[in-house]
Amino acid sequence: MTNQSDQFKKVISHAKEYGFIFPSSEIYDGLSAVYDYAQNGSALKNNIREYWWKAMVQLNENIVGIDAAILMHPTTWKASGHVDAFNDPLIDNKTSKKRYRADVLVEDYVAKIEAKVEKEVKKAAKRFGNTFDEREFRATNPRVIANQEKIKVILKRLGKSLEKEDLADVKALIEELEISCPDSGSRDWTDVKQFNLMFGTKLGASADTAMDLYLRPETAQGIFVNFLNVQKTGRMKLPFGIAQTGKAFRNEIVARQFIFRMREFEQMEMQFFIPPGTQQEWYNKWKENRMKWHLALGMGEEKYRFHDHEKLAHYADAASDIEFLFPFGFKELEGIHSRTDFDLSSHEKFTGKKLQYFDPERNESYVPYVVETSIGLDRMFLAVFSNALREETLEGGAIRTVLKFPYPLAPNKAAVLPLVKKDGLPELARDIVDNLKWDFQTVYDEKDAVGRRYRRQDALGTPYCITVDHQSLEDQTVTLRERDSMKQERIAIAELKSTIEGKVSIGTLLRQF
Ligand code: GAP
Repeated sequence: MTNQSDQFKKVISHAKEYGFIFPSSEIYDGLSAVYDYAQNGSALKNNIREYWWKAMVQLNENIVGIDAAILMHPTTWKASGHVDAFNDPLIDNKTSKKRYRADVLVEDYVAKIEAKVEKEVKKAAKRFGNTFDEREFRATNPRVIANQEKIKVILKRLGKSLEKEDLADVKALIEELEISCPDSGSRDWTDVKQFNLMFGTKLGASADTAMDLYLRPETAQGIFVNFLNVQKTGRMKLPFGIAQTGKAFRNEIVARQFIFRMREFEQMEMQFFIPPGTQQEWYNKWKENRMKWHLALGMGEEKYRFHDHEKLAHYADAASDIEFLFPFGFKELEGIHSRTDFDLSSHEKFTGKKLQYFDPERNESYVPYVVETSIGLDRMFLAVFSNALREETLEGGAIRTVLKFPYPLAPNKAAVLPLVKKDGLPELARDIVDNLKWDFQTVYDEKDAVGRRYRRQDALGTPYCITVDHQSLEDQTVTLRERDSMKQERIAIAELKSTIEGKVSIGTLLRQF
């Protein structure tokens, strides 16, 4: 058994070695928390994006897609609340000179108490065997109760202090809990300060006339400012949605865990505009819909859970995360937020323009409410990639490294391998590539022994290998090897397309959802 951090190290090194992800500008020693998607990574990313886009826009008559600019009028961010409220509370350790998010320090402390509770429960389960009643144990064991109460008190106080912006109390809490710097072990802390996460830039040539802009920290605002344009030109009736994928930027302080928390990342967001009063119903529907989208990938129900928020963002009246079991534990993958009419009303105030909808059924105009689904494409990439990477021991003891992607997401769907580089086999193999490439991504590979080529395609996650041998020249059949079962069957070249296509198309995935 490999432990979590070993598994995560393998994910990072495999992603680099097999051309999925490189550190940005690596020849200059990279740029912290910025990454480039390589030849296979960009293909996987495109496939995930396509699955999301089609599930939103193609499958729903009342959802349309847009592509708004990254740069927006700067007042957008005043109206959205990002100028005033998109902050992280920061604290520095004077000994190590390291900077931390104050709330994360407290949450990490709480996670340690949670781990203690879980250890206690596991120990008891082992001791009591079949007669163990976990719920009863959690409700009656004095140590578990005390620890759970402690967690509740700490999180409540943290939530309140952050809400009231009482940063002195956040520092007092860190001191009372005797939290020390993970790096130096020292408890010599500075005061807690707010730090805005938006990246600034300038528009214009001369220093005195240039306009201060921000790189968008979320794609959602490009949708809100276009609400009326889309509604009118598309003659959309409520409820309807606008979907968008694109880059977002955040000057993350604690940027770590590979592509989990980046400074430049991509979001896939959908704003669903609804009549006021129906937000609870739509919030529940979208929670269910999004979970189904994830489960259709077949990565295992046990890998996901909902986490309903107690502390809400400045725009939300309800919010829940879909968490995924990453190699470093359960963490947020997607957010579903009931954003009320906060954004549209605020843009009305700042622009003086009406952003309302005339509802013929209610015979009145109003500012629509919004339920948002927001998922990080890079985080989804990490979920798919880390879940796919396996080391399997084969009969005879050899280890194969394989990326078990859901077939429709794999960068290449089929690799065509001539058994030898002569006797007309490469020519026939290339003919097969030329026939299949119109329908799915097909590659040609002739280097090394065929066994090694199978391993290489396994490590890239290619679902099918098609081997062309001397018999192929005589009877127009090939060997089709399937990645997961490693089963090989003889099949007519004429049947390749119909056999493979149904298994690897995004449409197949969409039908399961
Ligand atoms: N429009 C709402 C919004 O932006 P969020 O919870 O801040 O909400 C939504 O972000 C999703 O974007 C997250 O669930 C996560 O998947 C992704 N995300 C946020 N910050 C990220 C970062 N620094 N790096 C990678 N993905 C990030």
